[in-house]
Amino acid sequence: MPDTLRLTLTVSPDAREALVADLADWGFDAFEETDDGVVAYAPVARWDAPTREAVDRRVGGAGWRAETVEDQDWNATWEASLEPVVAGPFVVAPSWADLGPEHDGRTRLTVDPKMAFGTGYHESTRLVLRLLPDIVLPDARVLDVGTGTGILSIAALALGASSALGVDIDPWSVTNGDENATRNGVQDRFEVREGSLDVVPEDGFDLVLANIIRSVLVPMLPDLVQKATPRAPIVLAGLLVTEREALLDAAGGAGLALEHEASENEWWACVLRRDEG
Ligand SMILES: C[S@@+](CC[C@H](N)C(=O)[O-])C[C@H]1O[C@@H](n2cnc3c(N)ncnc32)[C@H](O)[C@@H]1O
Repeated sequence: MPDTLRLTLTVSPDAREALVADLADWGFDAFEETDDGVVAYAPVARWDAPTREAVDRRVGGAGWRAETVEDQDWNATWEASLEPVVAGPFVVAPSWADLGPEHDGRTRLTVDPKMAFGTGYHESTRLVLRLLPDIVLPDARVLDVGTGTGILSIAALALGASSALGVDIDPWSVTNGDENATRNGVQDRFEVREGSLDVVPEDGFDLVLANIIRSVLVPMLPDLVQKATPRAPIVLAGLLVTEREALLDAAGGAGLALEHEASENEWWACVLRRDEG
């Protein structure tokens, strides 16, 4: 019996995160990113008239296609299709994946796909994973804003950071971040809190990571600076190449100078430090 609904949506990269949040509110519980947009899955029973209307209003009639798929086949196909992802010294893989000898020498980050964002299948995550080896100092205290699955904190801890605090406004992140901390053996050094900088009374972090989106990052910049030690790198991602100039203007206004940058496809990330000049 077909009992899972697969909804294929065409949507631009910068609108995907907000759309996934809405779909989660409407009962969708698994997501894949594609070249054209997002594929979302829900039990067929959740695909009722109000949900159809909500999707239609949100993306327009031309932007989505719904079909039913066999539950068992869908799970098997989806899990099998999750290939390990290489980024810098890391290979990101779900817990059920066996890694072949081609991954010998890489640091495994075990992250199972759930509701939270951050499985290594997005450019913004991979960009930060590649930047980390040059900026994580031994025993660093890390603040990871918008931690999602906790992947960036787990990577920083694997590189020698002493502790990481992850915060995320998405409650799924706390559950998933805690699970992933345990899966990777860093549960004693990684704490996840629900919320944003309002749940971080601490300061003096040696490294600040924030992979979110420009509209959230720009107003947050002065507070990120305040949480960091004077020489701490502040790593921003979730930004498009086309947003580079606007972001650097805002960073300059917050007293930050560009130290390093990287891009993959249309996505851009940077390392900023307090401008002492
Ligand atoms: C692009 S994901 C990044 C996840 C993960 N850190 C990674 O690099 O793959 C952005 C995350 O930021 C969270 N987020 C959005 N706005 C936020 C805010 N104001 N404060 C904290 N987290 C926020 C979202 O819920 C989402 O989990």
